[in-house]
Amino acid sequence: MESDHALQKLRQELGERGFLGAAQVEERYLMDAVGRRGEPPLAVLRPANTQQVSRALAICHAAGIPVTTQGGRTGLVLGQLPQSGEIVLSMERMAAIEAIDADSAMATVQAGVVLQALQEKLDALGLVFPLDLGARGSCTIGGNISTNAGGNRVIRYGMTRELVVGLEVVLADGTVLDGLKPHIKNNTGPDLKHLFIGSEGILGVVTRAVLRLAPKPDERTVALCAAGGFAQVRALLRHARTRLGGELTAFEVMWDSYYSRAAGITGQSPIAPGHPFYVLIEASGAYASVAANLEATLHAAIEEGIVVDAVLAKSGAENARLWELRDRSVEVSRLLGPVVSFDVSLRIADMEAFVAKLHTLAHGIAANCDVIVYGHLGDGNLHLSVRVPPERPETYDIIQRSVYELVGEYGGSISAEHGVGVSKREFLPHSRTAQEIAWMGHLKDTFDPKHILNRGRVLPGL
Ligand code: LAC
Ligand code: ZN
Repeated sequence: MESDHALQKLRQELGERGFLGAAQVEERYLMDAVGRRGEPPLAVLRPANTQQVSRALAICHAAGIPVTTQGGRTGLVLGQLPQSGEIVLSMERMAAIEAIDADSAMATVQAGVVLQALQEKLDALGLVFPLDLGARGSCTIGGNISTNAGGNRVIRYGMTRELVVGLEVVLADGTVLDGLKPHIKNNTGPDLKHLFIGSEGILGVVTRAVLRLAPKPDERTVALCAAGGFAQVRALLRHARTRLGGELTAFEVMWDSYYSRAAGITGQSPIAPGHPFYVLIEASGAYASVAANLEATLHAAIEEGIVVDAVLAKSGAENARLWELRDRSVEVSRLLGPVVSFDVSLRIADMEAFVAKLHTLAHGIAANCDVIVYGHLGDGNLHLSVRVPPERPETYDIIQRSVYELVGEYGGSISAEHGVGVSKREFLPHSRTAQEIAWMGHLKDTFDPKHILNRGRVLPGL
């Protein structure tokens, strides 16, 4: 059989450590962070360098074998879980931080570098890679790039796209596109790297990147505030932007439905549950005045009646403790049992009405169809978890469909940061026009004519 022959060639090419046959595939290659399981793959490929990725893809391409690429497998939209008949391409052995250039404030890394490993290495050098998200301990730079990860500091530094200077990508047929240039300014025609950032691995495999760094802020301070209404939350965002300027690093909002559960999980309630809204604000900068600025900002907010209560962390450990409330979101959501999770973008001005309609919609389905709301409000991004009544599992589809329709009515995005993967592909028309989807298909046909890379992810049937 052609695929047996291809597997033999892959084993020869990648060697003992680089090729795991079907019988050797460990369970971890099949699982995502919330316990969903894919199909056992034909094999797991673990290339050690770009040349091996290139040769492996050339073999898969020639044999027409579909490949799914894996980083840290923390994706939430089923993109990384193998489907029947696929080979897994794991980037875990390409984990070298190759170079750090302090003058240019850039790092060259391989795709399998774990985000936290890079953060720790840079910390010791007085630098940061500004991307930060709850999955930092396992997600990889290649995954961050291919999903254009967002996370906690987008309000200050932008999405991953803004942090990628150069990119090396291997195309489906093994062609290496070497765009690993360390130039912020490089206006030399269409910038191909942007096609691969955020396209979830359907056009090529990210192998190495030049990343933009920032100086490590001397000071970082976190505060938690409670607000009595959504108008106050909006006022607080405007107030924090004005008063903190470039020091505002995070503006995360938790509805009480989220906060009270997060307080339970993390064993802390710095502010008692029961207020309608909680806002976690982080300020950071090069001056010792950061904490004092944040404190003054909160005082003014209390005086103006925007905030009803606030606590300010007094140490790095207290900062981390407050962030725990926000970081453990995946666990908080799992407390509801079976849920449909959403990751949507909306105009901030529309959020209050949207959430009210969401509650009406959920309660119309069942009285126990609870809703949890939280998110990166400063970026216009809400995460929603809607409980599927355990006795009525068929409501999963109804919930999914009606919430995406609601997002569409508000002109929102069905995926702010987690991507489309398999979970949201049929809902893409709520956020993209037919022309846009058709042109995505043309790109897929051009870069991957045999549709071997992450087949069926993002674009159904391609
Ligand atoms: C978060 C993840 C779920 O913001 O995106 O917690
Ligand atoms: Zn998020």
